[in-house]
This record gives sequence, structure tokens and C-alpha cells, in this order.
Amino acid sequence: MTVAKSIPFLNLVAPHIELEQELVGVFRQALHSASFIGGRMVDEFEKAFAEFCDAKQTVAVSSGTDALRFALMACNVKAGDVVVTVPNTFIATTEAISQAGALPEFVDIDERTYNMNPDKLQEYLEKQCSRDKSGTLISQRSGRPVMAVVPVHLYGQTANMDPILRLAESYGLMVVEDACQAHGAKYFSRRHNCWMKAGSMGRAAAFSFYPGKNLGACGEGGAVTTNDPVLADKIRMLRDHGQAKKYYHDMEGYNGRLDAIQAGLLHAKLTHLPKWNARRRERAAEYNRLFAAADHAVVTPREHSWSRAVYHLYVIRTEDRDGMISHLNRAGIGTGIHYPIPLHLQKAYIALNYHLGDFPAAEKAAAEIVSLPMFPQLTKVQQARVVEEVLRFTSELSRKQVESEASSFATLDRTA
Ligand SMILES: Cc1ncc(COP(=O)(O)O)c(C=O)c1O
Repeated sequence: MTVAKSIPFLNLVAPHIELEQELVGVFRQALHSASFIGGRMVDEFEKAFAEFCDAKQTVAVSSGTDALRFALMACNVKAGDVVVTVPNTFIATTEAISQAGALPEFVDIDERTYNMNPDKLQEYLEKQCSRDKSGTLISQRSGRPVMAVVPVHLYGQTANMDPILRLAESYGLMVVEDACQAHGAKYFSRRHNCWMKAGSMGRAAAFSFYPGKNLGACGEGGAVTTNDPVLADKIRMLRDHGQAKKYYHDMEGYNGRLDAIQAGLLHAKLTHLPKWNARRRERAAEYNRLFAAADHAVVTPREHSWSRAVYHLYVIRTEDRDGMISHLNRAGIGTGIHYPIPLHLQKAYIALNYHLGDFPAAEKAAAEIVSLPMFPQLTKVQQARVVEEVLRFTSELSRKQVESEASSFATLDRTA
């Protein structure tokens, strides 16, 4: 009997082996110049990443969380303001909002794309907010001014930005994209009649270079992109103790810089990102094809015609999620759940006073989603085995359901 090899959820070793010489070269260059903080490697990476995102400016920082926090602060989000986002995201989204001094409030998601539902944003703005005497938009649940919206481009697919930007414009709100999972994702804007990149649509956008991201550092890292040079300068000061000139501090800031070695490594990897993203899209298409051909279909990701997702994650849905994960793990297949508890139901946010039932689409997704193996080096053979095991589980599940329905009919028959 042959034992099937295990399939990891993510293979981070393969791309680093592939680029070993290049990456070691970066490290050697940094050692020889001893330029570890700031300098040429950071400047060059910032320029290249701005170009990649079709944005005018990039400010490299120490993490995606800092990128989001600095972007919000630079957009003048202040203590006591409300920032609207979605409940099904990594907690860093709301941590950054809270750390900027603001209060997160949520609107529900679209149940097939998992991104902010613009209709729900509209409903929130129309029905749950009102204008005070000075014309400021006030949230009725907290009594605080609403300042910004943070759509999250979850799993590598952009939110539906046209209606979100239109609503933000008409209500005078800032939009900061959480693009931490969406390096290279594209959105067709009907307003501009062109494809736009994640990170080029809001007032600013935050990216994470956590190692498992589509563009990942060999450590921590992040970046803000923006088309506004004044905003970029403010973020440059925030990341560096509030100084534009050494020891001349115009304000208090943070130690939030990206170090030069990470910038160099990221720059080397950036040249490979279009190829890696294209492979992720091919892998997603292959999963879609294999699932579409099967009887016991699971719910696969939806990509609208206006979207070109970069599949940071490939997420399916099934009623018995925990059963499926146990089955796949027993078969040696790695899985993930992104994320099992929506933020409004997390212990950390009890004080926000949200309840089960407040965001049905996000809650249903959290209960049913499974992330399958997804990385550029995943092979077709591996994918076929993942799908085979998923379908083995779902067909067994539907057989058991049919049997249990038949036995309850038989019981009814006897008791009638
Ligand atoms: C949606 C989202 N926002 C923010 C972050 C925070 O990024 P970092 O871990 O680099 O601070 C992440 C990273 O996991 C993320 O996935």
C-alpha cells in the first residue's frame, strides 16, 4: 500500500529555496554597507512597491497593523471617532482603529465574496446615523462622530469599491483600504472605466508583509500606499518618532520603520510576485473546475466580473465544517479557518455590546468556511487529492443525511 504524502496548507520553504542566492545576496549587501535602518534599500523598495500598486507613494513600516494605524492617524482619525469596518477580518483591522483612539463599528458582508456589503454600509449610514446641529454625522449606537470606512480586501479579493467610495464621498468619510491580504488584486472601476489595483483607490491603503502573505518578508513588515504626498510625509514622521529631520520632533510618533534587510528581501521577491499571483489564480481556477465537475458541490469562492482576485486564500464553505477539517487533517491535508469567530462576538469586544444575530452573513461564514491549501507551488496532483478528499467527505455526509431522513420517515410510518 502506498501512503499518500501530506499536503501542507502553505509551503513557505519552497519560494525561499528557489530564491536563496538572490536573498542571501541582499543580506550580504546589507552586511557590507551596515546600512540597516532606512537608506537606499528602503527607498528603492518603496518606489518599486508604489509602482506595483499604481500608487504615487509608498511608506514602508514595521507591520500591516502599524500601516493601518498610521494611515488612520494621518487621515486625522482622532480619539472618540467611529471607524466603520466588517466583523470578519483579522483582529489587526480593529486593533489599528482602537490604537488610533477610535471606536470600531461594523456592517455586514456580502455572503459570497466575504467583503463589505455596500448595501449594508448604506443602510448603516442612512438608518443608524444622523446629523447633529453642526452637520456632523453621528452614530446612534455610540453617539460619536463617524469619520472613516475601512473596507478589507479579504482573501485577496477587493471589496466592491465604487459604491463604497461613492457613499463615503456623499457622507464625507475617509476610506482607508485594508489591503493586507491583497497585493496585486484588481478592481474594475465603472466610475473610472479602468482596472485599478488594491492600494490605489482609497485615501490610503495598508499592506502586510507577514511571511505567509502573497508578498511576505522574512520577518515582519508592512506598507502604506497613497496618492497624497502630504499624507505620505505625515506617515513618514509617524513611523519615525515624529521627526522629518533627525532629533527635530514636530510631534510624538512611533518606532514603526521597516528595516533595510526586509526592504531588500521584499524588493527581490516583488519581481516574482506577478508570476506567483498568476499561479495562485491558476490554482484557484483548477479548484473551481474540479469542484464544478462534482455532484456534491461545496460553495466555492465567487469572483465577480469586476474582480481579479490574487487568492491569498482559497476558501470554501460546507455545513459540517469541523467534520470536514478533521477528515482532511486525518488524510494529511492542511487547512485553516479565516476566521472562526467574527470580531463582534470576540471576548475582546464585549464592551462594544454587539450580539449573535447582528451580522448574519458574517456569522454564517465564520461557522462554515474552510481554507484549503493555496500557494504558488501547489501542484495539480496535490489539488486533485485535496478535492477528492473534500468530495469523499461531502458524499459521505449526504449519504448519512439521506439515511437519517429515511429512518425518521420509517419511525413516523410506524407511529402513524
Ligand atoms: C486583513 C488583515 N489586516 C491587518 C493585518 C495585520 O498585518 P500584520 O500582521 O503585518 O500586522 C493582517 C495580517 O494578518 C490581515 O490579514
